[in-house]
Amino acid sequence: QLKKADVIPQLMTGILENERILCADPTTVAAKFRKMMLGGAGKTVVISDFDFTLSRYANEKGERLSTTHGVFDDNVMRLNPELGQKFVDLKNKYYPIEFCPKMTMEEKIPHMEKWWGTSHSLIVNERFSKSTIEDFVRQSRIVFKDGAEDFIQSLDGHNIPLVIFSAGIGNIIEYFLEQKLGAIPRNTHFISNMILFDEEEKACGFSEPLIHTFCKNSSVIQKETSFFHEIAGRVNVILLGDSMGDIHMDVGVERDGPTLKIGYYNGSLDDTASLQHYEEVYDIVLIHDPTLDFAQKIVDIIN
Ligand code: C5P
Repeated sequence: QLKKADVIPQLMTGILENERILCADPTTVAAKFRKMMLGGAGKTVVISDFDFTLSRYANEKGERLSTTHGVFDDNVMRLNPELGQKFVDLKNKYYPIEFCPKMTMEEKIPHMEKWWGTSHSLIVNERFSKSTIEDFVRQSRIVFKDGAEDFIQSLDGHNIPLVIFSAGIGNIIEYFLEQKLGAIPRNTHFISNMILFDEEEKACGFSEPLIHTFCKNSSVIQKETSFFHEIAGRVNVILLGDSMGDIHMDVGVERDGPTLKIGYYNGSLDDTASLQHYEEVYDIVLIHDPTLDFAQKIVDIIN
């Protein structure tokens, strides 16, 4: 059994010795850990992205898995190849723009609005039913990271709120959690794009405001004010993300406590510019990590 005083030095040694973990400022990170340990579970909230953060980026063969939007690409292709191809074409066109290291965020935003807007229109025009979408999710290639189920359940067990802040499709995350965990844990709160259904349970619209990768910040958080007020005592934030758009997901939190930013890097190891950028904006960068072990370790030490 480790003594409390040894926990953080040991954790930091583990981080610094691991070549798959980047940490540009170990002193600041250790100070954040200390504050979080002092505060304990009662002062903590976890704010996490979903696609390729709670879910896995690639399978064992290195093939890219599905995002929540991607559920439509695969399933619609099976049922209606012409429409399926439209979803795939959109992804092939816009995904490289989302992660292009040469473009600024301002340059990317109009493309993201076009991508999300067009794919949402395709979903609404086709009037997919709720049960069809639930079925798509059952057959999808969305896969939890190893340990994600336990991580989510352990947050619930310790009464730590989990905010899933996703530019994906919230209903798809809900169906996925229901299918994998049996029910959505009480501690879970969603900030995402929600498909609206009519009285026949057919898709008829999307919630507003639209959330795309680069507006996961104060611009979409306004309608969440009462939720963040409810958790006002939670001054310590563990933020989990995989893209540059995820680093301000903590803007709604009413406080000035620390945010520990953990970034999952899914890009190429040759892309040193992106790796360096991740290291600058995230406290900890986990390279090609298909597990939630690191986040679980942090939650374990603060309890
Ligand atoms: O915030 P989150 O990481 O969950 O964002 C959703 C992801 O869904 C984006 O990073 C984008 O690559 C992806 N996407 C997609 N198809 C769309 C729109 C977004 O695969 N039509």
